[in-house]
Amino acid sequence: MTASGTFGYGEEYAEFMDLGRLGAVVVKGLSLQPREGNPPPRVVETAAGMLNAIGLQNIGIEAFVREKLPFLRQFDTAVIANFFGDSVEEYAAAAERLSSVEGIHGLEMNISCPNKQAGWCIFGTDPRVTFQVVSAVRKATTLPLIVKLSPNVTDITIMARAAEDAGADALSLINTLTGMAIDIRTRKPRLGNVTGGLSGPAIKPVAVKMVYEASRAVGIPVIGMGGIMNGDDAAEFLIAGASAVAVGTASFVRPTAAVEILDGIIAYMEREKIEDIRSLTGTVDGGK
Ligand SMILES: Cc1cc2nc3c(=O)[nH]c(=O)nc-3n(C[C@H](O)[C@H](O)[C@H](O)COP(=O)(O)O)c2cc1C
Repeated sequence: MTASGTFGYGEEYAEFMDLGRLGAVVVKGLSLQPREGNPPPRVVETAAGMLNAIGLQNIGIEAFVREKLPFLRQFDTAVIANFFGDSVEEYAAAAERLSSVEGIHGLEMNISCPNKQAGWCIFGTDPRVTFQVVSAVRKATTLPLIVKLSPNVTDITIMARAAEDAGADALSLINTLTGMAIDIRTRKPRLGNVTGGLSGPAIKPVAVKMVYEASRAVGIPVIGMGGIMNGDDAAEFLIAGASAVAVGTASFVRPTAAVEILDGIIAYMEREKIEDIRSLTGTVDGGK
């Protein structure tokens, strides 16, 4: 799968690959109303990764349905709409609207966003709020519902269970880790928003550990992501406990990364004589 926010609305990458080869295209996070996002600079390169503070810029659900979805529907791939809201009601309304449209196969709710009703704290860092917002969305949709967890928590298993208890069909993790970079000459933050989200190979060990822990804590499938750059990285997430993987920052380095990683997974399977990829999930030898 592609990771939300790193693959546009799919069409931006269509000239680089056959989108039909992908398991799913997960589109940039959508909200009921369009958003302009944060002031620039919005991305900074870091050691083995990048910081971003895009601020959830998007064209809004209606424009997505009208202008982007028809293109994506031509391909033999699942379309997953990533979405978010400022309040529980907005999440539910967004899910309801996306569910009324032909051609969306599943929803991924991003709960790493601030809750207007609770002093802008992040939905996904409190298990009760996670339960509340996922429950509301669950009532609003019959589509497969993926809950994308925030890694900026003390214990990922508590959030994973809260999302499962509220009716999630699958979990995806990890979203970006919060970070900051400063220009030591001007002493100004390098991001217009001051802080941002760290992604790329720098976060991979954190992501692998969280996928390992979360997948053992729940009975629903886990989609693993965080710094996957090649097929071997993807295999590591599957062994840790993921049932599927998503490619994010790698697509900025090489626009063809998603299909190259797919080929890399196949090469790994041939090398290791694995016939069914599903047999790999959660097979850490000597885990505790
Ligand atoms: C520029 C950028 C924008 C992102 N936008 C979203 C988003 O809109 N919704 C979301 O759930 N995750 C978003 N993410 C998080 C990614 O989908 C992914 O979870 C994270 O980057 C870790 O994977 P990676 O290291 O392979 O990039 C974004 C990441 C980046 C780098």
